[in-house]
Formats: sequence, C-alpha cells, structure tokens
Amino acid sequence: MTRSLNLHQLATFQMVAKHSSYVRAAEELHFSQPAVSAQIRLLEESLGVKLFEKIGRKTHLTRAGEELYVYSQKIFFLIDDTLDAMDALRSPHYGRLSIGADTTFGTYVIPGWLGKFHKLYPNVQVELEVTNPEHLIEALINNRLDLVVMGNYSVEVPVFVAPVLSNDLVLAAPPTHRLAERRAVPFVELSREYFLVREPGSGTRESLETAFHEAGIPLQVSMQMGNNTAIKQGVAAGLGIALLSRVALDIELETRRLVILDVEGFPLVRQWRLVHLQKKHLSATARAFKSFLLQQADQLSPLAPRSQRETRARRKDVSL
Ligand code: PGA
Repeated sequence: MTRSLNLHQLATFQMVAKHSSYVRAAEELHFSQPAVSAQIRLLEESLGVKLFEKIGRKTHLTRAGEELYVYSQKIFFLIDDTLDAMDALRSPHYGRLSIGADTTFGTYVIPGWLGKFHKLYPNVQVELEVTNPEHLIEALINNRLDLVVMGNYSVEVPVFVAPVLSNDLVLAAPPTHRLAERRAVPFVELSREYFLVREPGSGTRESLETAFHEAGIPLQVSMQMGNNTAIKQGVAAGLGIALLSRVALDIELETRRLVILDVEGFPLVRQWRLVHLQKKHLSATARAFKSFLLQQADQLSPLAPRSQRETRARRKDVSL
C-alpha cells in the first residue's frame, strides 16, 4: 500500500479540529458541509484511523485525531516557513551573494563599493573571494561565484561582460630613484632596472611582460611577490621598481613614500570588467548587485552609454 497524505484534506482536518465543528470549518473554508465531511472521510480512509467522534452534540478529536493535529500544526508551520524562504529569494534585500574580484580591484576598490551596497541592502550576506583572474574564471565555471570583477583574461565559455573601471598601471619607485625627477623617460631605459613582479596568473604581471616583449627588451626580475602590499614595501626598501595599479598607491603617493616614474608608454591601461556566465541564473540579490556595480561604473566613466559598451563574448578563446 502506498502511503500518502493529502495536504488539502489535512488543511480541512485542521480547520475542523480547530473549531471542533464541521459547520464552522465549512463556513471558514467556504465549502459546503458535505464537502468538508467527504474530505475528512477520505483522510480517515487513507490513514486507516478515525479522527473525530461525536459525543452528544459535540465533535471531539479521537486519540489519533489529537496526534494528527499536533503533526498538522508542525507541517503547516514548516510550509509557512518554506513560503517565507521562497519570498525572501524573490527579494533582492535578503540572501547571500558570492562574488569575486582580482587581487587589485578586490583590495583597493571593491571594499569601498561594498560599503555603499551594504547601506542599500543591509541584510544581504556577502562573501567576497579575492584572488587572481585565473582562479576567478575557474570559480565561475565551477559555479562557486555568482559574478566577478577582473581585468582582461581569456575565457573559453560564453560570458556576459561589461566594463566597470579603467585600471591605470604605473611604474612605482622610491623618491630617491635615479629616474624619479626625469620627464618622458624613453622605455628603453627600463632595461637597466630590476623589477619586483606579481605571481604568474596576475593580470598586472601579464601586462608588464607583454609591454617588455613588444618593446623587445628583456625584463629583469629581482623578486616575485604574490601580493601588492609586499611589492610596495619591497619597492620602498629599494629592492627594485614595480608596475602597480594607480588605485593601490593613494597613501604611498600622498606620503611620498613612493613616486610614479614618467616613462614613455605608461600608464599601461587595462580595464576592469564585470563578468558572469551567460547561462548563470542570477538571484534577485545578485541582479541587484550587478545593477549597482554598473551604476557605479556609469558614475565614474566618461565613456559611451552602457548599451554600447556591453558585449557578449560567445566564441572560444575570447579575450575579455
Ligand atoms: P591582478 O589583476 O591584481 O591579479 O594583477 C589585475 C588585472 O587583471 O588588471
């Protein structure tokens, strides 16, 4: 025998039990009294127990009825809870957001933007993964992140892409550096310099290597460090010069701990982009965050209207 419990019959039962009356239950449910009696009879048949007994003029719950009433309250409470949870998922004001950003944007830009987002959506829980673009793509493809902000990178799956902020990469050096006071230094002079570089997979490092490759000059690396803060400390300590995002240098430039070298061809300009899988079903919260990011971008960008800038990278090996 297949066991089953019909929720419609259970709701009718609950109403009769609540009022100890078929008549009152029928009124409240807007059914006829025979319809209510039929529902209860079907429920009794399917459960194989008697649920009500009439003693005098009063309708009483049997022992089985009392037990079922306790369970029915729990069941309808849980259904209410379930519906509340589904309502919350339709609202952008609740829920969890799993986002990612590359090392530089994740450290120097997104915390400030998240502060503003939190003021608008204080109940949204945000999980931010800060890592290099290679890992971000992997996290998107494995559906661990809803959306990410990252620099140019090649992806092999169809993605939605929209520009968010331009990323000026500058050459940072200590103020005592031999080129610190010079203007329009030719690129070739960099062949005498030693560089502190980021880890492989970093967009900043990739840009530096490409620029040297295109100029036909060997890049001399003094040290590799997987983190912008360590690189800034290393540059200040005289270990070499470095290519760094301008957004990472506010404090160092203000305090003149570091300076920007004026070398031809710099800054190298990259673009930060919002990326998510085209197939990804974004939750209401993720959609709200996406609009928020694009609004921030619009406020900061003097470029063409957004509709002209959004692109869809469909083909294999599309470089973002
Ligand atoms: P990075 O990425 O901080 O990992 O170097 C920045 C970028 O790709 O522009």
